[in-house]
Amino acid sequence: MRLRFALAAALPALVSLAAMALLADRLARRALEDELSARLTAAAQAAASALPAERVARLEPGEERTRTYGHVRARLDVLARSTGTRLYVIRPDRTALADSDGRTRIGEPVPALERDRLEIAQAAAGRPVASQVMFEGSDGLLYKSGYAPLLDASGKVVAVVGADGTAASFATFRRFRRLLATLAVAGAVLGALVAAGASLSVTRPLTRLAEAARRIGRGDLETPLWPRGRRDELGMLRDTLEEMRKALRARDEERETLLAGIAHEVRNPLGALDLFAGILSEELEGRPEAAHVARIRSELAALSKVVEEFLDYARTRPPVREAVELGALVAEVAEIASPLAAARQVSLGVKGAGEARADREQLRRALVNLVRNAVEAAPAASEVELSGRAVGGEAVFEVRDRGAGLGPQARAGLFRPFFTTKEKGTGLGLALAKKVADAHGGALALLDREGGGTVARLAVPLAPPEPRS
Ligand SMILES: Nc1ncnc2c1ncn2[C@@H]1O[C@H](COP(=O)(O)OP(=O)(O)OP(=O)(O)O)[C@@H](O)[C@H]1O
Ligand SMILES: [Mg+2]
Repeated sequence: MRLRFALAAALPALVSLAAMALLADRLARRALEDELSARLTAAAQAAASALPAERVARLEPGEERTRTYGHVRARLDVLARSTGTRLYVIRPDRTALADSDGRTRIGEPVPALERDRLEIAQAAAGRPVASQVMFEGSDGLLYKSGYAPLLDASGKVVAVVGADGTAASFATFRRFRRLLATLAVAGAVLGALVAAGASLSVTRPLTRLAEAARRIGRGDLETPLWPRGRRDELGMLRDTLEEMRKALRARDEERETLLAGIAHEVRNPLGALDLFAGILSEELEGRPEAAHVARIRSELAALSKVVEEFLDYARTRPPVREAVELGALVAEVAEIASPLAAARQVSLGVKGAGEARADREQLRRALVNLVRNAVEAAPAASEVELSGRAVGGEAVFEVRDRGAGLGPQARAGLFRPFFTTKEKGTGLGLALAKKVADAHGGALALLDREGGGTVARLAVPLAPPEPRS
């Protein structure tokens, strides 16, 4: 996401920057070239009009020492200096006649002019023109040429005058080009940095928000979100999430108060009822009415159980983690379940080793429920096995019985609160165990056991997941 964001932000900027640099480069170069072309063509034309056309045209090889040649060269030299160009006169077939610096000899072909064949032909046809391509001089500078026809008195083209020149501005242009390239690279780097920064400023709070939402989802309503900072949409999202956390906490507190009310208003009278029913049963001992009182006491016990389990279930809080010895924990669970096991003539096998960071009290309650279920399902004289061990980063508890296994109806509703197939069941045992597993970021599953029976498997991470920033 971060990379995509950075690319999306930086790419268009980089492309348009590069396009602009390219365009500026082209435009500047074109302007410079056009100006140079005009200057060179004008210089060639000026030279053409200042030269004695008929005499130049009559120059023959070997006449370098004649007065005419000397005169022509001197004139070319003066004009070349004043226009800052190199001037030369050639025949339309590109053989040399004269030049401003005496580099060529009369009648000699000038191979370098091959490249401007077309332009020279155009000039020979009577039209002043500048070369299309630039060439690099021995000094490393870029040169162009302008050509103009040399006309005799009758207006006939007798030769072509060429003017080679460079522009001092080409050096400036090169610097400009280097500057553009540097600017483009610097712009690209800066753009990438800014985009990376911008994307971080969006993705980092998003990651934090996701982490906070996950934490709230796990039931931690106490940890406040980071202090209010930005005023943009992300800040708004943070504020909304914080408001939601506070509202949920307020609702939680209200529920707590309600539950405390139930606990107080129902539990205490139940205790009193049980006490007086006990007294009554002692007084009625031996009389037929005693059976009614016994019934009342058994219903009261069932009601107490429902209330206790309901409160247990409804009060499940976020786990408070501590070091838990798995061996000691399963031993304690077996101890709690042993009266029920003894009553049902079921033996309990216990195995445990390892350590985890978890809510000991919650795990104990969940496991007691699983063992109770197993004992209740197990046939007399069979064994229920309880084990707890640390495997692959998890604390894995398993409760195995040789009962009838899960019917299809039970399988569908297992973890739903109040789902039970037992006459005196509340149907809250597995719902509570599942809640504990979820709160720890773990899982609960009831599986068919090979050879008959059920395996209840509760697995929680050995340590809480590290909060990501
Ligand atoms: N080990 C098991 N073997 C077979 N069925 C099981 C086992 N454990 C749970 N069940 C089925 O799942 C149902 C729900 O179990 P849960 O512990 O939630 O409630 P309960 O045992 O019926 O009631 P309570 O736990 O309140 O006494 C049970 O009624 C039973 O049908
Ligand atoms: Mg149960």
